[in-house]
Amino acid sequence: MRNLLFIISLLIIASGCSKPKHYRIGISQCSADIWRDKQNAELRVGAYAYENMELCFAAAYDSDQRQIQQIDSLLNVGIDLLIVAPNQLSTISPAIDRAYDRGIPVIVFERKTSSKKFTAYVGADNYEMGRSMGEFIVSRLGGHGTVLEVMGLKGSSPAIERHKGFSDVLRDHPGITLKATLQGDWSEQSAYNAVKQYLDSNNAPIDYVFGQNDRMALGARRAITERRPDAATRYSGIDALPGDRGGISMVRDSILDASYIYPTHGEKLIEVAAAILNAKPYDKEVKLTGALVTAENAGVILLQAEEIKHQSVFLDNLHKKADNYLAQLDSQRYATVLLIILIIVLVLLLVLLYLYYQQRARIAAEREELTHTQLEFYTQVAHQLRTPLTLIDGPLKQLGEVPEMAGAGEQTRHIYSIVSRNAEQLTALVNKILEAQQGKLLPSGDADSATIERIKAEMEPATEPAAVSQDETHHGNAGDELPQLLVVDDNDDIRAYLSIILQGRYNVAVAPDGEQGLAVARETVPDLIISDVMMPVMDGLEFTKRIKSDIATSHIPVILLTARALSHHKVEGYESGADGYITKPFSPQVLLARVDNLLRSRRQLKDLLLGGDRRLAPEAATMLSEADRQFIQRFAETLDSRHADSTLGVEDLAAALGMSRIQLYRKIKAMTGLSPNEYIRKERLQRARQLLHDKAATVAEIAYRVGFTTPSYFTKCFKEEFGILPTDPNI
Ligand code: FRU
Repeated sequence: MRNLLFIISLLIIASGCSKPKHYRIGISQCSADIWRDKQNAELRVGAYAYENMELCFAAAYDSDQRQIQQIDSLLNVGIDLLIVAPNQLSTISPAIDRAYDRGIPVIVFERKTSSKKFTAYVGADNYEMGRSMGEFIVSRLGGHGTVLEVMGLKGSSPAIERHKGFSDVLRDHPGITLKATLQGDWSEQSAYNAVKQYLDSNNAPIDYVFGQNDRMALGARRAITERRPDAATRYSGIDALPGDRGGISMVRDSILDASYIYPTHGEKLIEVAAAILNAKPYDKEVKLTGALVTAENAGVILLQAEEIKHQSVFLDNLHKKADNYLAQLDSQRYATVLLIILIIVLVLLLVLLYLYYQQRARIAAEREELTHTQLEFYTQVAHQLRTPLTLIDGPLKQLGEVPEMAGAGEQTRHIYSIVSRNAEQLTALVNKILEAQQGKLLPSGDADSATIERIKAEMEPATEPAAVSQDETHHGNAGDELPQLLVVDDNDDIRAYLSIILQGRYNVAVAPDGEQGLAVARETVPDLIISDVMMPVMDGLEFTKRIKSDIATSHIPVILLTARALSHHKVEGYESGADGYITKPFSPQVLLARVDNLLRSRRQLKDLLLGGDRRLAPEAATMLSEADRQFIQRFAETLDSRHADSTLGVEDLAAALGMSRIQLYRKIKAMTGLSPNEYIRKERLQRARQLLHDKAATVAEIAYRVGFTTPSYFTKCFKEEFGILPTDPNI
């Protein structure tokens, strides 16, 4: 979880850091005109070379006040470097000082400042420009004539320096008369106004006007043309900008006599700024050079300038496209990062949801487990109550039937009835508790449907076997040896009580746990076993399984008599192989009836097994367990293969079936009612009868063939078995 959050934050930081360090450069222009427009365009193109550069432009429109304010606000916005063209030499200095003192590098360009606090200066030599123009005019006038000068903004360094260069040249040429130096402010209108005013009070002819820039030269021309339409005055200026309204085309079109290229070189400024910002070497003073433009070279220069302009527009468009593309790329990257974050958050949410539901399921399971344990405990206690209840309820009833009770006094009978009524009530209460628990404790395992059917049948009142009358039971066994029963229970009282109930009808053997019960069962091979479930050493379920898996005992019916009354307990009981399941407290009559029923069905099985046909009757087969079916099968096969052998005896059969002689004797006796020898003889006689019927041979031959040693003994046995002689024609 923490790792995931860490990855997300790394992603976010990485997406923000992928750009290189960003520089913001403030550009404070003193004016706004085509010269500055050109320069600003060059600055922009220059910045393209550095993708981390942002330019903030400000134009003061020739106002000192405005320029100071603009510089201050650029500082507040937070610039990394200031490029400034100061309106006047000294007025802007305080703002420049402030920038420099803040540690911001300052590049002064084109116009100078009185402040010493700047990092570099970039500009042309205005004095030299004034000189060049002076010399050009002198030569144009052939050393003789009158000249008028119109100066740029008072206090601005180019105006001062251009004037100085110009007047220095004129001083050396006495044939040239500088009629006046008029004051303009770099704008066309200022020159127009100044010249017009001059002409109003001066009539002398003017041969040449030097405007300190092309715009002012044009303003002067307008004024003179207005006042003196016939005058042959010539004009020259400075700047020589390309374009329709620029000085070069005016020279080409003979509007101006000459101009001087005043270099803009915005790209050079950016170069110096980048060097300063990246702590690379740079020149503290960069001198830009210009050139004189006359009618002779104006055409060529214009062509070149146009070409450069064209290239720069092309470059600009290219850059705009690249910018667009980069912006798209940027937004795509943002979208991708966002998507990744979204997916991570979604996955996180899913994981959390999964964990939450898992936790909930665990808590629910724990709660259920606890409830189940509690229920099991209460059920256990209720079950434990059943054994003592059995031992109160049952004996009480029996006591009620003894003859002494009939003769007892009223008080005794009254006490007796109180005790029996309360015993019944207690039984009912315990049953209610168990019923209530039963609803909550469902069988946990998957009992097979046959087992469930058996349990259902068990629980339906209609299937409760009707109590068999004593007479009938006794009658069934009259004269016979009593059936042998084995009672296995760890409770001494229960064993004693069961012995009392069962005595007289059955011979009862007892054992206190499964292990001892198993030993007795193997030894005596009883006709039926009644066993408790919860016992020490070996419990009733394990005991039943062992009984049913040992071939010597597998045929013995087992009734589980237990306090474990819930459905899943019964399922467990039947799954262990039990033939009956009776819960405590139990009715002695029900128990007797169940015992009797099971013994009776065993007797039916005997009849089926002795049905005359040596093959296992299908009805008998369904009543037998798998182990017993296999036993009968093997027994029949052994007899089949050796029926002619007169020496075949119990020992041989027991050895062939892997049992002891006594075990085989008891098993065969229990299953068929006959001793193995009687059974073998019966088999031989059945076979003989068939052969006689088929008239397969003489009586004597048949007698030998079925394993008799003397025909006379055969005839005797045959008569005993079938009531007729072997020679009888009705066989
Ligand atoms: C442009 C301009 C030019 C002139 C220069 C002097 O703003 O007026 O025409 O040559 O400034 O600084």
